[in-house]
Amino acid sequence: MNTSTNTQTNAQKPKILVARAIFPEALAKLEESFEVRSNQADQILTPEELKKELAGVVGALVTGSERIDAQALAQAKDLKIVANISVGYNNFDVPAITTAGVMATNTPDVLTDTTADFGFALLMATARRITESEHWIRAGKWDKWSIVNNPLGMDLHGSTLGIIGMGRIGQGVAKRALGFGMKVIYHNRSRLSEADEKACAASYVSKEELLRTADHVVLVLPYSAQSHHTIGEKELALMKPTATLINIARGGIVDDLALAKALREKTIFAAGLDVFEGEPSVNPELLKLSNVVLAPHIASATEKTRRAMVDLAIDNLRAALGGKKPPSLINAEVFKAE
Ligand code: DGY
Repeated sequence: MNTSTNTQTNAQKPKILVARAIFPEALAKLEESFEVRSNQADQILTPEELKKELAGVVGALVTGSERIDAQALAQAKDLKIVANISVGYNNFDVPAITTAGVMATNTPDVLTDTTADFGFALLMATARRITESEHWIRAGKWDKWSIVNNPLGMDLHGSTLGIIGMGRIGQGVAKRALGFGMKVIYHNRSRLSEADEKACAASYVSKEELLRTADHVVLVLPYSAQSHHTIGEKELALMKPTATLINIARGGIVDDLALAKALREKTIFAAGLDVFEGEPSVNPELLKLSNVVLAPHIASATEKTRRAMVDLAIDNLRAALGGKKPPSLINAEVFKAE
């Protein structure tokens, strides 16, 4: 960890933690107002290290890799805000953060379109076997054009797309599907308003009906104890043998071992995964298969969007430390206007 060096002026500055590497210009800007403990080496902190680093700071910028719970906060007596650089916040124990009187924020909206674009890219790569085809060429296996002996995929146009989790990103995926002439069905904890359903031309169905009828299933729901293994052996068995499954939500929403079995036994056609149980480790059973497209949790990873995520997290942090309500405050009950 590095501490910003201008110690003379640092004496008057509030201390903050930047738990992972961020863009250097953003860090430099923060150092104008704060004494910054930064981690440009980008090594993931152990829970013990995180606890130590949070002690004595008034704000922290963190990511999904840092678990913020009662243990992490045990010595963080001065902490006012923990700002996630991520829309998902399953790394936050929100009740524990709230009990500690700390504001918790995330980065919604700024990544919606980038993530929906990626969901579609992963869907296309998976259904049309693009990465598998590339490996095939690189392995020198392409010796002729062939009607039947080339990687034959599944169409998107004219097919039914099933989206589980119809928040902002799910709706973004649905709107993209309209341009591909797909029929969109969805399942969500609560049904969308009539106007929102109309905007996405999406029909609400039960999870079972969605799994039985969709040609392509895209998962975009938040991770929680309730959504753990939303897709397991039973759910995979409901899917068509021609269906694809795309996970751009969180590892743990899919039972990766059960998925590997379904892919191996071809009870579903293919899967595209941006997130994994226990990532960055990937279940070795998945690594053996050619009918799965793997990506290293990059759905929001464009230069512009990652900068926007960092900027929004910093806006949240500055607002909280300046006595203002952060733009994307999760636990509003902690905020007390000054
Ligand atoms: C998000 O913002 O939730 C992305 O998945 C990155 O963690």
